[in-house]
Amino acid sequence: METVLSGIRPTGNLHLGNYFGALQNFIKMQYEHRCYFFIADLHSLTTHPKSADLHEHVKNVLAEYLAAGLDPEAATIYVQSDVPEVSELYVLLNMLAYKGELERTTSFKDKVRSQEDNVNAGLLTYPVLMAADILIHRANKVPVGKDQEQHLEMTRAFARRFNNLYETPVFPEPTAFNFGQALTKIPGLDGNGKMGKSEGNGIFLIDDEQTISKKVMRAVTDSGPTEPNSPMPDPIKNIFTILEVVSTPDTVAHFREQYNRCNIRYGDLKKQLAADIWKKTAPIYERIAAIKADSNYLRKVTAEGTAKARESAQATMKEVRKAIGFRGF
Ligand code: TRP
Repeated sequence: METVLSGIRPTGNLHLGNYFGALQNFIKMQYEHRCYFFIADLHSLTTHPKSADLHEHVKNVLAEYLAAGLDPEAATIYVQSDVPEVSELYVLLNMLAYKGELERTTSFKDKVRSQEDNVNAGLLTYPVLMAADILIHRANKVPVGKDQEQHLEMTRAFARRFNNLYETPVFPEPTAFNFGQALTKIPGLDGNGKMGKSEGNGIFLIDDEQTISKKVMRAVTDSGPTEPNSPMPDPIKNIFTILEVVSTPDTVAHFREQYNRCNIRYGDLKKQLAADIWKKTAPIYERIAAIKADSNYLRKVTAEGTAKARESAQATMKEVRKAIGFRGF
């Protein structure tokens, strides 16, 4: 059994890429491993969100996680800022992080370019806070995308430095949890690349039937194949990729055959796709609304998540403080 940890910044809503990608794996993993799933609200402060927006975003992600199937009985689900031990460890790890290595971090260099009027120290030490998130539970597996690999590498460096400096093996060195083949990549419907919040091409779990239909009908297509069995251009391939995730094999085979015979009607294909997406997301859509309206439930889930997370965090901090020499008299 591994200790798995994943954090998500509360900046937007979950889309089909999140849901059919990493989330499906989280839902399975939560019954096989010791899992921590948290909402990284401290990290999102680097961009100075308004307090009402921050609160709303945290609530959205939490409700969407729960509605999608993360099980608070199985996994530890919490909000980062509810666990003050994370901030304490962050202070301590900052003493081990060098200005030079932080300045060389790719994500920092990107931010310096993209938000040059707000290059705050929190941006510089973003990887240290992320290391604190991971090391506070002594997690050994972290499901991360390519863009987070450097942060994970830095986490390993900080863990190693701590263990060496204080001559105590407090922290394991976490590695990436690679889903490999098990990770479904959902493309966007704009003809290129993946579905993502920054790409502006997302179909979201909070989209209603009509919104989904509108977005799918707008999907990029072409004038159709003219030769039997011709290869599919990317925009068409993307539609079929999503169809394979949400529709029955018979439906997929039916449209593939039509494509190969050059009598496919993209309008029909899209209508079917929209209907089958909605079939999958409708129950989640309903649950999101119900959960968001149930403050008692949200309070209960976060209270239990905080308690479990703090228990684990405090056990780590006890060893950390002892190793450093904060021993009391
Ligand atoms: N930096 C991650 C992202 O932007 C979010 C995150 C914060 C995280 N702390 C983490 C991810 C710890 C994994 C582990 O996607």
